[in-house]
Amino acid sequence: MNAPKIKKLVAGNWKMNGNMQFNQSLINELMYGLSRQAQSGCDIAVCAPSPYLLQLSAMLHGQPEVTLGAQDVSAHESGAYTGEVSAAMLQDFRVRYAIVGHSERRQYHAESDAAVAAKAQRALGAGITPIVCVGETLAEREAGHTEEVVKRQLAAVIHVNGHCISEIVVAYEPVWAIGTGKTATPEQAQAVHAVLRQQLSAASEHADRVRIVYGGSMNAANAKDLLAQPDIDGGLIGGASLKVPDFLSIIAAAR
Ligand code: 13P
Repeated sequence: MNAPKIKKLVAGNWKMNGNMQFNQSLINELMYGLSRQAQSGCDIAVCAPSPYLLQLSAMLHGQPEVTLGAQDVSAHESGAYTGEVSAAMLQDFRVRYAIVGHSERRQYHAESDAAVAAKAQRALGAGITPIVCVGETLAEREAGHTEEVVKRQLAAVIHVNGHCISEIVVAYEPVWAIGTGKTATPEQAQAVHAVLRQQLSAASEHADRVRIVYGGSMNAANAKDLLAQPDIDGGLIGGASLKVPDFLSIIAAAR
């Protein structure tokens, strides 16, 4: 069961969206909206495409309320890995979080559980919090394999990072709910979060400190019910994070 003191995390995953002008107005609108909300009771992050980390790092400088995240990190330290971005590079831009193992990367870039675990390790080594995504496909859910799949995905990360596992964030993102408008019900999500919490508890005495956030068509209308579940400690928001009023509503629901 979740410790009540855990601070929720609401993180936007912009995916491959945005441009210099769009980002600038989004952040301006977000900061203005936040200044009109009650004092933040949750952590807020935006995970932007790599080319914009410099722009966002500059815009968010001196704005501690919103932290910066990346959408991926290399499993390698440095060297001949064309196109990859290392944890040390992310560190240069004051990146606080790095999403690893998003289902879109597992699916389109054939990222294995072991590769995701190695990425989480690199992030942790650079003082960056990995947001480790796990989640089942529709076929896996329908075959009754949800628990087995998410546990296998998380086990790989625990195996490599056991000693500092309480430093990660876990994101439960059922693949069938991503970008589909089909959200897991609060009960469905809670059931999986409880399984993940239990798995973390077996690996660390600080499992109650680990934030397990939900992702998959979370929006202004369903956020409150999802975030009210005992083991749902925030959200990883795709589409709705690009619409500031919606993102602000989710943040308000997390407070
Ligand atoms: P949507 O909120 O657009 O469904 O995306 C969720 C997601 O993949 C966040 O990482």
